[in-house]
Amino acid sequence: MSQAVLILIKPDGLKKSLTGNILTRLSETKLEIVAAKMVRVSAELAKEHYKHLEDKPFFGEIIKYLQGELHDRKKVMALVYWGEDAIKKCRELAGATNPEEADSTSIRGSYGRITTSGVYENVIHVSSNQSEAEREIKLWFSPDEIIVDLYPTKDLACKEAAKKVWG
Ligand code: PPS
Repeated sequence: MSQAVLILIKPDGLKKSLTGNILTRLSETKLEIVAAKMVRVSAELAKEHYKHLEDKPFFGEIIKYLQGELHDRKKVMALVYWGEDAIKKCRELAGATNPEEADSTSIRGSYGRITTSGVYENVIHVSSNQSEAEREIKLWFSPDEIIVDLYPTKDLACKEAAKKVWG
């Protein structure tokens, strides 16, 4: 079954210059990249992304981590991969969430670590299931940033808002 999955290359992955390596590893899946962009992550976006974890003791740290405050890289790379069994294929390549438990040949097993305060710095985020993938993709991307029609859309009539254009 074809499905979509959100991948985030997190600030530690960018700081360690792993972008090319991670994209090469993900290309082994033969999935299609249908959206990609660099994002400066606001506290609001990070909190919404991890909202199911707001009661966890590490919540504050993972918000700072996703915003790049721990790595002096205030951005993440967000991508949507699409194709047959996309979630399973990407999660297998990523490895277990806990980098100490991840297969040593996986992306997280190769490059992740646990900080002294117990927070996983695992280089990459991969949606855990189809409903989370849909929620996360709609959070990180607008419909016109994705080159296939993944989910239903509607047309909204609105007055032209002020926006930045090329000078
Ligand atoms: S759950 O509810 O624990 O199953 O949550 P999960 O969906 O696996 O996501 C947990 C995210 O929090 C990050 N994180 C940690 N999880 C557990 N324990 C510790 N100490 C911890 N530190 C950070 C973990 O990496 C998951 O984020 P992503 O971006 O998915 O890797």
